[in-house]
Amino acid sequence: MATLSQNLSPGDTLGHRTGDAPDPGPPVLSLRDVRIGDQVSGREIVHGVSFTLTPGKVVGIVGESGSGKTITCRAALGILPAHFEVTGGSIEIHGTDIAQLSAAEWTALHGVTISAVFQDPASYLNPSIRVGPQVAEVVRVKKRLTRRAARRRAVELLRAVHLREPELVYGQYPHELSGGMLQRVLIAAAIAAGPRVLIADEATTALDVTVQAEILDLLADLREQSGMALVVVSHDLAVVAQLCDEVLVMRQGDVVEHGPTRTVLHDPRHEYTRLLIAEHEQYGLERFLDPKPAPEPGPEPGPKPEPGSKPDPGPKSDPDPALDLDPDPKEEA
Ligand SMILES: Nc1ncnc2c1ncn2[C@@H]1O[C@H](COP(=O)(O)OP(=O)(O)OP(=O)(O)O)[C@@H](O)[C@H]1O
Ligand SMILES: [Mg+2]
Repeated sequence: MATLSQNLSPGDTLGHRTGDAPDPGPPVLSLRDVRIGDQVSGREIVHGVSFTLTPGKVVGIVGESGSGKTITCRAALGILPAHFEVTGGSIEIHGTDIAQLSAAEWTALHGVTISAVFQDPASYLNPSIRVGPQVAEVVRVKKRLTRRAARRRAVELLRAVHLREPELVYGQYPHELSGGMLQRVLIAAAIAAGPRVLIADEATTALDVTVQAEILDLLADLREQSGMALVVVSHDLAVVAQLCDEVLVMRQGDVVEHGPTRTVLHDPRHEYTRLLIAEHEQYGLERFLDPKPAPEPGPEPGPKPEPGSKPDPGPKSDPDPALDLDPDPKEEA
């Protein structure tokens, strides 16, 4: 299968870091003890979520239904449902506290700095408009391209997400495409303006296993090629094991465990995490966990590694956020 880089024009930007110099830069997204409440019931729904995402990093969020995964993501995207609010902690996107953002500033950020793909792609596309123009519209508005350039770019994006015959797909309506194809279209739209963070909330859940694997490869490719950081929400630990550097395990609004993926999945501390893993073992979770064997506790639970110790140390940086909301826009003729 062609790689993303082969599918992009030379010098094109889906993201902001090319080449292989591991320079993570400042965090693109950082949540500190985020609490979310329901104003109507007065109930706190999320009781303190923290994580930091640097460029190219992938954080996974797993946990039972209703544990607050989606609500947490929606808070980071500034799209909480009515009567939900962030009641504590802080969320920063590229060093900017989102509590300070005006509606216009959010509009400028959406798609350009932070973007998202959810489950059920069909509901995010207008059924009466061909899919290509819907992607082109994102490019036209967010990248301020002419209609002609936006069309060209949209076709490139459809190719970049491995849709065969992108010209043909461009002219098709949502109902003419399979679920996997629709999800690729959604991803194309989500990455159209080269966001630094993509939140994928159960983005592959509704897809069959083969298509799911292809979409996961695509996300891994995007991360690799463009330095885009990812938040991957999934109930599927195999997905997390495959993609994520770090994982948060949520339960009833609490983060019960948080650490490097391998540490959490090989040596879970919390009973609930053990339960999740036990449920997944029958699906062969371990085959995703050991691409590069490293000293691990083995079958016997050994001494607990320190939180933050990584078998596969990636570049790390401390928050020193610089306000830079400019996505390096690239105009076409
Ligand atoms: N639009 C909404 N209106 C009212 N309550 C909501 C809404 N969305 C979520 N909730 C409530 O907030 C809590 C957290 O929900 P959330 O959608 O974040 O769970 P989740 O972890 O994403 O679950 P799932 O795995 O099923 O997607 C739940 O109690 C849910 O009922
Ligand atoms: Mg959810």
